[in-house]
Amino acid sequence: MQNVSGLSDFRSDTVTLPTPAMRRAMADADVGDDVYGEDPTVRRLEERTAELLGLAAALFVPTGSMGNQIALRVQGRPGTEVLLDHRCHVFHFEMAGMATLSGLLPRPVASPKGVPTVEALRPWIRPEEIYYLPRTSMITLENTHNLAGGTVARRADLEPVLALAASRSIPVHLDGARLWNASAALGVPESVLASGFSSVMVCFSKGLRAPVGSAVAGSEAFVAEARRVRKLFGGGMRQAGVLAAAALVALEHERARLTEDHARARRLAAELAGIAGLSVDPASVETNMVMVTVDGRLGDAGTVLAHLKGKGVLAGSMGPDLIRLVTHADVGEADVARCVEAFRAASAS
Ligand SMILES: Cc1ncc(COP(=O)(O)O)c(C=O)c1O
Repeated sequence: MQNVSGLSDFRSDTVTLPTPAMRRAMADADVGDDVYGEDPTVRRLEERTAELLGLAAALFVPTGSMGNQIALRVQGRPGTEVLLDHRCHVFHFEMAGMATLSGLLPRPVASPKGVPTVEALRPWIRPEEIYYLPRTSMITLENTHNLAGGTVARRADLEPVLALAASRSIPVHLDGARLWNASAALGVPESVLASGFSSVMVCFSKGLRAPVGSAVAGSEAFVAEARRVRKLFGGGMRQAGVLAAAALVALEHERARLTEDHARARRLAAELAGIAGLSVDPASVETNMVMVTVDGRLGDAGTVLAHLKGKGVLAGSMGPDLIRLVTHADVGEADVARCVEAFRAASAS
């Protein structure tokens, strides 16, 4: 099925529709009751995901948010702090889940591009000898980083944080909703970027176009515990193989394509950078996101979004003057041209 709205939808890569190959695989999938561990297609997806990440095991979960929250619940202890970047998804968009579901206190640390430096993190790892301070039980990182603009963390960015955490025996979780994009952008296997993390969450339902599903991966012991927490959170699924089948197609056929989305985002940014009233830094575009700051002359982000919508272009607001555009398989060159024209018209109005 194609996008029948007639709109050019740059709001998110989550709007992508499943491919015909995915729909066929879903229809043909071998299934069983996965709460009893009897769904062969789910098993295959979990094994393939673990293999790609270089980790011992993986667990299929309905959403990325659930995967992150399961990892936090398994590895964090109630009444302790989780160090994380101040703009990360876990902190901003998961509805204080770590507090309500796991009794954890987020300790946000600022970073320019999404990965806090060791210098920024170290003072917040609480000293054990001061007994009335909360303990630090986890660190989470995000790659690519959504609110920082789809930025990529390289091995060299991750290494110092992982080394600091290891020196204090602190587990580090990776929100890798778009780890596939980071891997495609850098030309390195996902396993290289996942190495050293105690748990990794990945999504099949974003740029990879599967309709539903994510996974959380780690050691055998971590996944055994994660399976219990998934049930606790209401995420035990039955004939989930119909969903896993689409995710398997996503893994095998969509990862290589992501570089096209990245190239399209770079072209979009370069075009928008020339439009009066917009501030866009093409050099900052590393994957499939373009962040556009709107100057007051055009009104706020909401005004500009309404204008774009009038021209058939959908985008998202990430702040009072900040618009996010995301490229994906269901926006092509014609959509990019339409988007640029819509911004031009907004600037001229
Ligand atoms: C970086 C990041 N992590 C986690 C998620 C959560 O995924 P889901 O929408 O499947 O809960 C998202 C969703 O956009 C995301 O961008």
